[in-house]
Amino acid sequence: MGKITLHDKTFKPFISYSEIEKAIGQVADKLNKDFENSDDIPILLCTLNGAIMFTSELMKRLNFISELVTIKLSSYSGTESTGQVSQVIGLTTDVKDRRVIVVEDIVDTGTTIVALKQFLQAQGAREIRICTLLLKPDSYHGNVKLDYVAMEIPNDFIVGFGLDYDNLGRSFKDIYVLDSDSIQKKHMKYFILFGPPGAGKGTQASAMVENFHLCHLSTGDLLRKEMAAGSELGLKAKALINAGELVPDEIVEGMIENQFNTVTGVDGFLLDGFPRTIAQAEALNGILAKKGEEVTSVVSLMIPDEMIKERISHRAAIEGRADDANEEVIANRIRTYHDKTEPLIAFYKGAGKYNEIDGTGTIEEVRGRIADLMSKY
Ligand code: AP5
Ligand code: MG
Repeated sequence: MGKITLHDKTFKPFISYSEIEKAIGQVADKLNKDFENSDDIPILLCTLNGAIMFTSELMKRLNFISELVTIKLSSYSGTESTGQVSQVIGLTTDVKDRRVIVVEDIVDTGTTIVALKQFLQAQGAREIRICTLLLKPDSYHGNVKLDYVAMEIPNDFIVGFGLDYDNLGRSFKDIYVLDSDSIQKKHMKYFILFGPPGAGKGTQASAMVENFHLCHLSTGDLLRKEMAAGSELGLKAKALINAGELVPDEIVEGMIENQFNTVTGVDGFLLDGFPRTIAQAEALNGILAKKGEEVTSVVSLMIPDEMIKERISHRAAIEGRADDANEEVIANRIRTYHDKTEPLIAFYKGAGKYNEIDGTGTIEEVRGRIADLMSKY
């Protein structure tokens, strides 16, 4: 018994045919005991299509005379119970005053069996007994007594021995269960918006997160928030930031991991200003590996150093950032970028993730280039 694939899902072996046969034998013994001396001929009501195999195996083992009747009801679509029961094929035999043994493949929530019993009662059946191959006790909440249960199973989705997944899988004589390891996990996207100070990372990030349903994570913004709040972390960072130096790696790594673990409802993240050192890039790989994820792509905005100075002095008048106010500090930020951050270009080129974009031109022009690139992932 190996794994089987039906439509988009893989199932692994769960209950072997020999175990099924044994369980059916035990149920048949009980039915024989209850019906062998009866004067009337009970109806064996096979619920199509799922109970076909069970009914035929069961009938072979019954030593009293019964009349085989079929009915088709449906309450499933895909792997989830829809809770809707509809009688698809009506009864061809009159059940009035008859004893009916309903033969079911599986009792799950009980919706089908409850509706079927009500239907048979309304048709005037004298006695209704339920015989099921499988029961999911954790999921059953019906009030109908289940007279004969061959096997109890946990609340998993199964196929085989008459049971299907969207009409496939009924013909297997063993029972298979959905292989959860094979269900494809939806991966998150982790874009890095890379570039020197003033390259336009923050400017472009807002449109991109909206376009691609991402969360914008700017370590600079997060640190400035801490500084504004006067937190311990903010106080620690303040002197370094205002001098144009980097804050210690562990501080930003912790902030990023915390955001990854708490932000939900997005398709991924757009990292702005992180990673900024090789150590941070390695830490990021480790954080993502723990989650079974990886960096999607590095989008690198490149502008010449002279333009950095122009843009930052322009912004200084608008935003009033302390690290924009002093030419010496700006020069130190540019130096820090070349010394500590630029080596990441080779790091990500080596990983095959580096994409360079011309950061000069109008904001709209640059935005178009970034969007074109990101839409490939
Ligand atoms: P951070 O806030 O990240 O600053 P930065 O890297 O120096 O980058 P900026 O925010 O200055 O530039 P930007 O690329 O976002 O440009 P923007 O879009 O604003 O970091 C600040 C400090 O925090 C660091 O120095 C460090 O101390 C610390 N820190 C942060 N992350 C860290 C980390 N990972 N590790 C250690 N320490 C860390 O654009 C700039 C201006 O140009 C704006 O006025 C904008 O309107 C204008 N502009 C943008 N695009 C165009 C265009 N195409 N044409 C004309 N003008 C444009
Ligand atoms: Mg910024």
